[in-house]
Amino acid sequence: MALLGRLEGKVALITGGASGIGAQTARLFHRHGAKVIIADIQDELGNSISKELSPTDTSFIHCDVQDDAHVRNAVDSAITRFGKLDIMFNNAGTVEPLKPNILDNDKADFKRVLSINVMGAFLGTKHAARVMDPARHGSMIITVSTSSVSGGATPHAYTCSKHAVVGLMKNAAVELGRFGIRVNCVSPYLVATPLVKNFYEAEDEPNLYSNLKGVVLKAEDIAEAVLFLGSDEYVRGHNLIVDGGFTITNLRSRCIHSQTKAELLTSSTVPIKMALPSPMKVIAADGVSVCESCRRWNGNPRLPPLRIQGKIPDFNCSRNSKISDADVR
Ligand SMILES: NC(=O)c1ccc[n+]([C@@H]2O[C@H](COP(=O)([O-])OP(=O)(O)OC[C@H]3O[C@@H](n4cnc5c(N)ncnc54)[C@H](O)[C@@H]3O)[C@@H](O)[C@H]2O)c1
Repeated sequence: MALLGRLEGKVALITGGASGIGAQTARLFHRHGAKVIIADIQDELGNSISKELSPTDTSFIHCDVQDDAHVRNAVDSAITRFGKLDIMFNNAGTVEPLKPNILDNDKADFKRVLSINVMGAFLGTKHAARVMDPARHGSMIITVSTSSVSGGATPHAYTCSKHAVVGLMKNAAVELGRFGIRVNCVSPYLVATPLVKNFYEAEDEPNLYSNLKGVVLKAEDIAEAVLFLGSDEYVRGHNLIVDGGFTITNLRSRCIHSQTKAELLTSSTVPIKMALPSPMKVIAADGVSVCESCRRWNGNPRLPPLRIQGKIPDFNCSRNSKISDADVR
């Protein structure tokens, strides 16, 4: 177990701190001695986490990260309440519904995701810099995703937004380094948070959250990575990927072009844990793997092809009657 007290005396602001990765980071930071401000749009949840930790060392502030005045206010509240800001964790984020065909994607969803994920990170970085620059010290971390370094695993706006934020992080790291401020990103693989469970409509599927034999990725694991970046370590301009090796393989592109169980099992450097049940056979169509009989992605229209690994055992081809070819481009 890691030694506690790594953030003794520090003050941290966490956007999206009411749930998932942000909430676990708030808990871990607090255990390590930090004073924590939770900034989120979910007031009830945010307040309850602040209460659960310690009303004297933590507080909640309502903050929509898209709103300049809200973010300014959240940063200023750290100064008013605790006298300084050492760590800014720009973590709030969202994802649009999965629509595999770009023609079905609409501008409003795209704008909303970029506004929260990119504009939110920009405003958080800007206002944190406002108070960290004069202090000549600070650490900023932005939550991106494995979708910041690869394509095809998440919808268009989300993938774009996470790539964009890495650019912001690099620029800010270069600019703010002269003030002794470090800026980094953390890139999680799938973690079972409300965001992901809603997206995949998946509750209890440990396989979905595991890319490393015997290990299921948890919000606590991401919080540990954020703790490392938030501590006084000599790391700047880095995108720390916490993915059990997911992005070092070419699993997706190799699997979706596989045609048989044998090819599937041998084409990946990551073990395909589950055997394909009969009568399912994966075929390749327009670069997307579909079930031969129901012509649906891995039997579930909401799951992208990379889900071949985890979803197959639940696959039920008998639902094909309700599905038309139009579902699959
Ligand atoms: N869970 C994963 O598998 C995963 C993987 C990669 C990246 N991420 C990223 O991690 C971050 C945290 O997500 P999570 O998985 O913990 O999900 P989550 O839904 O549990 O938490 C997201 C939080 O962000 C808050 N939020 C959303 N819009 C906001 C806004 N406009 N202003 C302020 N707060 C807002 C939500 O209220 C929520 O509390 C996101 O940036 C997400 O993209 C998650």
